[in-house]
Amino acid sequence: MLLNTPVKESENISLEGAVQINHSSFFVYKDNNGKTFLKTGRDEKIHKSLVQKMIDLNPHIARLLKRYHIKPLIDTKTLRELTNGHMNDTCNIAIGVYSMLPVEIQSKLNKTILKEASMLHDLGKVLIPSKILNKPAKLNVKERKIMNIHSTLGYELLKTQNLSDDTLTLIRYHHQNLKHTGYPVLPKDNTFADLGVQIISIADKYSALREARVYRRRLTRTEALLILYREVREGKIMPSVYNALFKYAEMNDID
Ligand SMILES: [Fe+2]
Ligand SMILES: [Fe+2]
Repeated sequence: MLLNTPVKESENISLEGAVQINHSSFFVYKDNNGKTFLKTGRDEKIHKSLVQKMIDLNPHIARLLKRYHIKPLIDTKTLRELTNGHMNDTCNIAIGVYSMLPVEIQSKLNKTILKEASMLHDLGKVLIPSKILNKPAKLNVKERKIMNIHSTLGYELLKTQNLSDDTLTLIRYHHQNLKHTGYPVLPKDNTFADLGVQIISIADKYSALREARVYRRRLTRTEALLILYREVREGKIMPSVYNALFKYAEMNDID
């Protein structure tokens, strides 16, 4: 559950709420520029034990890991990097895209759900072996299959917590697209997911393209937007969602 009552913490940063998971929380802060930050706090052991609790609560996770020959190890470094970096960025971009959409489209999706789901979308990566996660080259078929279960793992971990079904659905399908050729397989009659998944997915991809990788440099805003435009032409991204990202990037991102 996301608490929305703003609490002043200091001059530059205010506590906006928290994604509550048992007695530990992923705290949500906002700075003077309106940027949202997700912090796990200083004590990583607490957060590691929190993820461990999620694993213990859902036996399906152990079965899934066994099926893919993955040891049930929680990578603290990945957890820290995700919560302090990529998931924050994706959340900020997703909310930015949402804010640029026409009101009639905005009204189809709850902003709080979008915020929660984008903040937590890649949590499942804490269970993906770091040699696959950080491989400085293209993944082989077996590695790709393992990597692709991170969205299912994130869903299974967070299913044990007090999150809404809609939030969980967006986390589970954040690698889906309009043609439903992504993963995991999305039931054809599930149209709810389309808009929310579209926004998280485009924010996720844009955030990744704007970061340097071991195998490529950081792309410019224009390069990233051009790559995503190809997906509009392929029918994978809604033009309205792309246009909203374009506007958001033009106003908030420096090339
Ligand atoms: Fe992901
Ligand atoms: Fe991601």
